[in-house]
Amino acid sequence: VSLKPYNTFGINANARYWVEVNSEEDLQTVLQLNDFLNQPKLILGGGSNVLLCHDFDGLVVKVNIQGIDVIRDDDDHVYITAGAGVNWHELVLFCVSHGYAGLENLSLIPGTVGAAPMQNIGAYGVELEQVFESLTAIHTLTSEKKTFTHADCAFGYRESVFKRELKGQYIITSVTFQVDKRPTFHTRYGAIQETLTEMGVTDETLSIKAISDAVIRIRRSKLPDPTQIGNAGSFFKNPEIPKDQFESLKATYPTLPGYPVGDDVVKVPAGWLIEQAGWKGYRSGDAGVHAKQALVLVNYDKATGDEIMALARKVQQSVLEKFGVPISPEVNVI
Ligand code: EPU
Repeated sequence: VSLKPYNTFGINANARYWVEVNSEEDLQTVLQLNDFLNQPKLILGGGSNVLLCHDFDGLVVKVNIQGIDVIRDDDDHVYITAGAGVNWHELVLFCVSHGYAGLENLSLIPGTVGAAPMQNIGAYGVELEQVFESLTAIHTLTSEKKTFTHADCAFGYRESVFKRELKGQYIITSVTFQVDKRPTFHTRYGAIQETLTEMGVTDETLSIKAISDAVIRIRRSKLPDPTQIGNAGSFFKNPEIPKDQFESLKATYPTLPGYPVGDDVVKVPAGWLIEQAGWKGYRSGDAGVHAKQALVLVNYDKATGDEIMALARKVQQSVLEKFGVPISPEVNVI
């Protein structure tokens, strides 16, 4: 089975076995089939955070569990459970249209609800963990169902227990969100403020819908649409470097942006480093560095996973040589 339609990078790799499941029960049944018990497994949601570097000699499971349900509410919050296969942006739009606040800054992120907690998706000043209540997942070997609380997930910057200690062990089947009845607006991010102003939004007319619309505008203007050009969003994480190193770099490169993380560490935008190293808009064959956002690697048509990785390594090497800063992939390289 070709996986090309199932990964947003549009890489043409094959899977030995492929199955799509629509419910937890289907998933448990599939996992218990003798043929599949000892097969390596790759779980795909929207396929928007993977780079496939070779054919997958095992079982690929596409999780297509649907459903968005309001399960309860209290004075301040509404609790919403969504199936892992629900398109992320569809959930955001559901919340925005019902006046449930918290997800609006995360508008238009490609992928599914089930993939969101894996890497604690984030954008424009909000991370998934701020609206996360709990999730259910099925163990790949025992098929047992388990509920994970916020603490169980050990969220970090684009990190969770599912990318680390429990890598490959659980398949997320549903996620419950705690959203707010009364909004707290997250508009500190510069690009959001500018765009709201451009849109003519004032403090009086500010709403979660306006923020969602602003985020959609920004993303459409900077990030390539995966249906047009293959990509997996940010290819690298923004590196965190010691404050001393930041300050000495800043002396040489006064325009270097940086966001303090605690007292001794500064997070710097990899996109800036990559652009300054001269890669923005670079293209070799069908592999390239996006012309409007250097953090995004793109597949113009027929690039292989290895070609994208070769480019990624060159970019890493040159950023390391120029700035002494190592950058590491955010996408899951298979
Ligand atoms: N920058 C450049 N050149 C570039 C790109 C960025 O100089 O080519 C500079 C910008 O001018 C700005 C800074 O870098 O000063 C930050 O850029 P931007 O706001 O575009 O955000 P980012 O750090 O590049 C992160 C997330 C994105 C998220 C945006 C907005 C990561 C790895 N990426 O990107 O998330 O949408 O912030 O919050 O943290 C994703 O994870 O797939 C993703 C798209």
